[in-house]
This record gives sequence, C-alpha cells and structure tokens, in this order.
Amino acid sequence: MVTVIVGTQWGDEGKGRVSNFETKNAEMVVRCTGGNNAGHSVVRDGERFALHLLPSSIINPDKMSVIAHGVVINPKVLLQEIGELQSRGISISPKNLAISNRAHVILPIHLQLDQFQESLKGDGKVGTTGRGIGPTYQDKAGRIGIRMCDLVGERDALEKKLAMLIKFHNMTMNSDEEFVCDEHYLRNLCDEYENYGKKLGGFITDTTFLINSALKEGKKIALEGAQSTFLDMDIGNYPYVTSSNPTASGTCAGAGIGPIHVEEVIGVMKAYSSRVGEGPFPTEQKNKTGDRIRALGHEYGTTTGRPRRCGWLDLVMIKYAADVNGLTALAVNHVDTIGKFSEIKVCVGYKYHGKEICYVPVDHENCKPIYKTFKGGWSTIGATTLGDLGPDAVKFIHFIEDFVGIPVAYIGIGPDAKQTIIQ
Ligand code: IMO
Ligand code: MG
Repeated sequence: MVTVIVGTQWGDEGKGRVSNFETKNAEMVVRCTGGNNAGHSVVRDGERFALHLLPSSIINPDKMSVIAHGVVINPKVLLQEIGELQSRGISISPKNLAISNRAHVILPIHLQLDQFQESLKGDGKVGTTGRGIGPTYQDKAGRIGIRMCDLVGERDALEKKLAMLIKFHNMTMNSDEEFVCDEHYLRNLCDEYENYGKKLGGFITDTTFLINSALKEGKKIALEGAQSTFLDMDIGNYPYVTSSNPTASGTCAGAGIGPIHVEEVIGVMKAYSSRVGEGPFPTEQKNKTGDRIRALGHEYGTTTGRPRRCGWLDLVMIKYAADVNGLTALAVNHVDTIGKFSEIKVCVGYKYHGKEICYVPVDHENCKPIYKTFKGGWSTIGATTLGDLGPDAVKFIHFIEDFVGIPVAYIGIGPDAKQTIIQ
C-alpha cells in the first residue's frame, strides 16, 4: 500500500513533517522528484534536521529510505548531507538507504548552465535555486545525461560520456564562452565523480526492483513529494516552475510504480501562501500583512535562505490541486501562525477577464482574488484536538474541508512534529 505526500501550493508547505508522521506507519519512504532544490525540515524532540536529498525517514534508521530515479542527485551534496547526519549520531548504511542507479547526476556544468540560462532570461528569469536542477533534467530528456550507474561503471565509458556532454553544450555556446573540456579538466572531473561513485557505491542499486519487491511483500510505502503542484512543469505557472512533475502521478513515475498501488494522497498546505522565485501570486501581500506572515511563519528558504513572498491562503489553488493529485486528505500547517491574525482572508474565487471562476487558468497572473474573511485570534497552546482551538478555528478548518471537498487529517500548530493534531 502506498501513501503519497504532495505539496498543493508553491513548495515549503511542511511536507517533511507530514512525511515524518506517515513514516511512523510506513516501512519504506521514497523521494521521487527534484533534487537539492528541496528543503525539508523535520524537528524531532526540539532537534531540527534540514534535509535536501534524503527522505525525512532517514532520521529513523529502522525505516528504509530510498532516493528513486526521478530525483537528480548532486553526489557531493548528498555525501555532505549523509556525513552531517552521521556526525549527529544518525546511522546511515545500505541497510537503511538505497539510491537508484538510474537517477541522473548533477555536474558542475549544470550549475554553470543554471546561472547562464537565468542571466540570458534577464527580466524573465525563473528565480531558480541555482542548484543545476533544470539543466540536469534537460540533459536527461536530451539523452546525454550521466546516471548514478555510470559513477560505478567503467572509467573509460564515464570519461567518454562526460566529454560528450560538455562537447554538446559547447556546440550550443558562443565560442568565447566555451566550457573547459581539455584532457586535464576531464581527468579531474572523472576522478572526482569516480570517487563519489566509490563512496556511494554501497547504496546504489535498482530501487525500482527494491520498491516493487517491497510492495509484493505487502509493505507500507510513503512517496515523499518535493516541490509542489504549482511548481510542476505541466500544471504549474510555466515557465516559473521546476523541471519535473512533482504531482502525485509524477511521484509514481519517479519511483517506478504503477498508480494502482496508491491508496492515499495527502495534500500538504499552509494556512496562508508563500512562494520563492518569480511567477504569479494572486493573493500576495506586498505590505505589512505579508511582512507579518513572513516574520511569524519564519518564511525564509531552507535551501537558499531567500525571504519568501507571502500572502493569504488561496483555496482555488488547493481545490485545483485536489483534482490534479486525486487528494484523499489535507494536512494544514501553520494554523498557529495564521491564528495570530485577528482577521484572516481566504481566496474563494477569481475575477478573471470579466467573469468569476474557480480553477487555476493558464494565465494565473490575470486572476484577481475574491476573498472571504474569517475571525482569527485563536490560541493553540496545549491543544490536542481541533475543538481545543476554539470555535473560530473550527469554522476556518471546516470551511477548508467543505470548499475543497477533502477532509483535513493533520493540523500543524507548531514546528515540532509533536505539535500536530491528528483527526
Ligand atoms: P520544497 O521541496 C520552494 C522553486 C524555485 C524557483 C523554481 C525553479 O522545499 O517544497 P529550480 O531550482 O527547481 O529550477 O527552481 O522552483 N522551487 C522551490 N520553491 N520549495 C521547493 O522545494 C522548491 N523547489 C524549487 O524557487 O522558483
Ligand atoms: Mg523549499
């Protein structure tokens, strides 16, 4: 049985903490899309862990954590992440971590290309995390990428593939700006990546076989989404998106399983909205309200440290995300944060080219929010049930459930995993 955890907004909804909960029941947790553009923080007994590539289950060594082929891996960053966790007493071995041999590898040239493409776009830049994600997926689709299996294969073959990849990019560059590809550079690059292969070799395996074998044994598996519905390159606000499909069906493709196994799809959202990078944001508050949400919600990127753009909750987006992902439950985070406002606004429709609509159109930037106002001012201290938050919070949560048509299963009322009301 498979549970999928997906983001319903523009990322940073708190997928890590929900996944950490689901992990309690799951025997295996799989990261399926994106790379170290993700920043998932998990707080356990007051101790905070910031994860970028590893699934949040890694802090529970009795669970199997898997990085599947849909993920793009920067091996240097992955080794650092493993090393840091090990130095904090977390045991990581091939017994509790598997990395797909089919996953594509982020190379230094991809980081350069990420910067280069952003600077070419000028005003139209995406505002990427600069981690080389887009260019790596481009090379994957362009059929010139390097995979994890190449790092543990024949050196000659790796060298040939690296040379080909750099040559390919040089052919599309202006001759003054060529990427270095001389013998010395290639040898060093090959040494570096071969060395990563040696260090990670024990973890590299056919994760598709591993996951499907676990399914046949009746194990419970959680697919941990990264990024989000509106960063999905098909569904999101193209071109202000990431270069993968982080929706529920995309996670199945990224893990290599059939959708028939999925029984639950949990959509993670915040009680307000935030976005990093460029792109439309109809409910954005470029004012004191936005500043207050940012300050109260600590809305600064886990990956890049960038201050996040903040605004009111947009339920039209969540309803759309419910359809796109086939959500079966919602997890609403930062209910404590939004409760600090005496008046809370929620977008329940858009004015769009003279009409009222309730879906996310291709030109999201032309949508003007229609708001409904709620009374806030609730306290979450010591609460263990929704009722403990008081009638205004109950009204707010029930409205979300009715509007989206999906039950709220988790209510986040603080950063620690313990500060979660489970319904
Ligand atoms: P988690 O998993 C928030 C955004 C970037 C940028 C766009 C493209 O923490 O929710 P990319 O580097 O992927 O090419 O950038 O996508 N982005 C995220 N924003 N959280 C994330 O992941 C993100 N991953 C990518 O800010 O706007
Ligand atoms: Mg993030």
